[in-house]
Amino acid sequence: MSVNKEIRRVTTNTFQEMKERGEKIAMLTSYDFSTATIVDDGGIDAILVGDSASNVMAGHETTLPITLDQMIYHASSVVRAAKRALVVVDLPFGSYQGNSKEALSSAIRIMKESGAHAVKLEGGAEIRESVERIITAGIPVMGHLGLTPQSIYKFGTYTVRAKEEAEAEKLRNDVQVLQQAGCFSIVLEKIPAMLAREVTASLKIPTIGIGAGADCDGQVLVVNDMFGLTKGFKPRFLRQYLNLYEEMKNAVGRYVQDVKDKDFPNEKEQY
Ligand code: KIV
Repeated sequence: MSVNKEIRRVTTNTFQEMKERGEKIAMLTSYDFSTATIVDDGGIDAILVGDSASNVMAGHETTLPITLDQMIYHASSVVRAAKRALVVVDLPFGSYQGNSKEALSSAIRIMKESGAHAVKLEGGAEIRESVERIITAGIPVMGHLGLTPQSIYKFGTYTVRAKEEAEAEKLRNDVQVLQQAGCFSIVLEKIPAMLAREVTASLKIPTIGIGAGADCDGQVLVVNDMFGLTKGFKPRFLRQYLNLYEEMKNAVGRYVQDVKDKDFPNEKEQY
């Protein structure tokens, strides 16, 4: 199925319609204006301003250090670029876990200061009150279950989640809680494909998978990873569409050489 460029702006309703007609939802992350312009022009349905910015933009080991102000900076740059895509922004670690009032004021700041269209929160039943309060204020919420990187120090590793029955059962319950709370969609990260298929079939709202198999209603990847910009990162679930790290490194090498050789700038490249 080709990209439906007739859609003027993808909305949360479009997500629902896509699930109902069996059209897969394509989502990528972006954190800056230039990349988001390319991603939007390429026909993506939704852009996630993920807190993975903490890793790929700032070079932190985890997503924990990024602040709400930094997320708003990234999100506002992406919003200025996105003409068609729905823009979803992560509430960063520490901006919503305290209580539902804090969650709502963080979500309001994101919507007001960046112009984004929705927020994403990690967690299930334990964040139900926050999800409901944010949605009551008119802000669409995307859930995120399975591997939730803000809890990395609880998990201890980035390996596949919900392989054991007890964790799978909690996830089955959490997806229903998030749907009932009013989430318009749920990201399922790094869980067995069979479980993702089962919970996707059990929901009216679409699931967006990352390392969760082919039967989710949509897929999301970190754009730096799919472009091959992240050196040495090649998990099994990642399809790398370019090797930009090597291409960009080679371009830098050629530029350095041209400057050293006094080849750049030439006569046509000066005033
Ligand atoms: O922050 C992020 O990029 C994410 C995706 C991996 C789903 O949450």
